[in-house]
Amino acid sequence: MARLDHVGINGRSVCSLDSGQVRIDLENIHRFDVLDRAIRLVSLTFARQLAFAFGHADGLAGRDRVSPVLAAAKTAGTPFSAILVEAGDGAEQRPLAALGRRLQPALERILAKHGVLRPRRTELARLHVLLPAPGSAWLGLSVPDNASPWPMGIPRLRMPSQAPSRSTLKLAEALMTLLTPAELESTMRPGQRAVDLGAAPGGWSWHLANRGLRVTAIDNGPMSPQALATGMIEHLRADGFTWRPDGGIDWLVCDMVEQPARISRLMADWVASGRARRAIFNLKLPMKKRLEELERCRRLIEDRFRQNSLGFDLRMRQLYHDREEVTAYLAPH
Ligand SMILES: C[S@@+](CC[C@H](N)C(=O)[O-])C[C@H]1O[C@@H](n2cnc3c(N)ncnc32)[C@H](O)[C@@H]1O
Repeated sequence: MARLDHVGINGRSVCSLDSGQVRIDLENIHRFDVLDRAIRLVSLTFARQLAFAFGHADGLAGRDRVSPVLAAAKTAGTPFSAILVEAGDGAEQRPLAALGRRLQPALERILAKHGVLRPRRTELARLHVLLPAPGSAWLGLSVPDNASPWPMGIPRLRMPSQAPSRSTLKLAEALMTLLTPAELESTMRPGQRAVDLGAAPGGWSWHLANRGLRVTAIDNGPMSPQALATGMIEHLRADGFTWRPDGGIDWLVCDMVEQPARISRLMADWVASGRARRAIFNLKLPMKKRLEELERCRRLIEDRFRQNSLGFDLRMRQLYHDREEVTAYLAPH
């Protein structure tokens, strides 16, 4: 809501506890292009998906669930390039998510038959069908650069059999979520140099090594044999707050469990000083005043970049694989 205030849009949020969804009824603005410019998924920390609703379908409890969605989709007055059937991400919503997966192929068939789905027209908006409760659906639309390509914003990642820890998935998700495919391709390349602070047992280092980066892993704890077996990782037993490399590096990653403000200062110093070209790091959330703490971290980073008269790009997201933390991407711009 603070972000909406910031761009002069009035709205009322309708949010039920543990539903995994926030609906915001907008009062003074209804044009899609204006909304799409004002509300950007990349600037939201706790939302993994974003769509602008235009319709509602009831009567989905009967045998024919497809016709009410088709009728509501037609009211948009535009065809779509894809359909994402979605539900909240919680234990209670699991049956709805399963229903959504069953509904998806039937919807694709019928909407294509009626010319409402045109998969080859990739420039068109995507249709979101959100199942908030049994029997009904919200219909919304999004454009590719302002929404996640995966239903509910959750990339389905398989745990690689050789990876030393599940946290490998967290870095994989961070890179896919916080950067666009084009950004990732142009900024992370084999042969680059990376530093991993708080690296043990080595899930993040292993992921970088598998992308062909040479990694210096800083941790007083032991690295797993799988990580060291890549031959791309040098393990140094040192303190991640004081250790510094000889020259500049391409990527800094940091998963040390520490106060978010302390991590933010450290990351800002590495990137603003040019020691690292970009960073991915975790901020462990405090029990209370989580938003305030994240705003404080943003200000600390801003202060450090201001010292070098630099602007910065900071993106924070609570990922699917995150628990009591958020993951951030930081680069100068
Ligand atoms: C959550 S684990 C990291 C997991 C790792 N990202 C992975 O993928 O396997 C946090 C690690 O940070 C290390 N750590 C905490 N404080 C540190 C410090 N000051 N310097 C170096 N490592 C530190 C701990 O020893 C621990 O191994």
